[in-house]
Amino acid sequence: MKFFLDSANVEKIKNAVGLGLCDGVTTNPTIIMKEGKEQKSVILEIAKIMKGPLSVEGIGETAEQMVKDGEEFAKWAPNAVVKIPMTAEGLKAVRILEKKGIKTNVTLVFSASQALLAAKAGASFVSPFVGRLDDIGQDGMKVVEDIAQIYRNYGFKTEIIVASVRSTAHVERAAKCGAHIATIPPKVFEEMFRHQLTDRGIARFLEDYKKAKK
Ligand code: E4P
Repeated sequence: MKFFLDSANVEKIKNAVGLGLCDGVTTNPTIIMKEGKEQKSVILEIAKIMKGPLSVEGIGETAEQMVKDGEEFAKWAPNAVVKIPMTAEGLKAVRILEKKGIKTNVTLVFSASQALLAAKAGASFVSPFVGRLDDIGQDGMKVVEDIAQIYRNYGFKTEIIVASVRSTAHVERAAKCGAHIATIPPKVFEEMFRHQLTDRGIARFLEDYKKAKK
């Protein structure tokens, strides 16, 4: 299973890359806005430190505009993956970009039917947003489980990126159903390391080491 960082924070990405645990990065306009930097400069910075797939999102609404944006992103970084919204125009753009050798990530996916369409269009990645589904009272991970089963049934090559991750439980369920990738916010990534019994165990061993006969 691959871990992507869902962030444009260069320091956090550097840290995860340094740990050898960051296989890619996903960004979107909201994530970029939070860093207070201009999109191109932050993408160039990330591309310098992280060689895996780097998802970049434009705001084009027509296939033509999305293709144009995608070609531009590919010039910024050889590892750029173009995020394409799950619309009919978006899927047109997916076909064109993938034919040109530019990878796409179909984003804002909320159902297995949408994921099926994205795979048939030839997308390299598909991003079901599990947290946002949970927010409206649905079980986001159930959608991922359905997508994983459908892709397995037909041998689709499209990789599932579990997105809108809010908890370590999301990552665990993603791994359990065989999703290829989870894109994880830094806060959840940090939580994955921790368990209160690990902390207590370390403290206890340290105390006993000090008490032991030297
Ligand atoms: C994924 O590619 C998206 O950037 C992200 O996971 C969206 O998450 P959110 O619902 O927390 O905004």
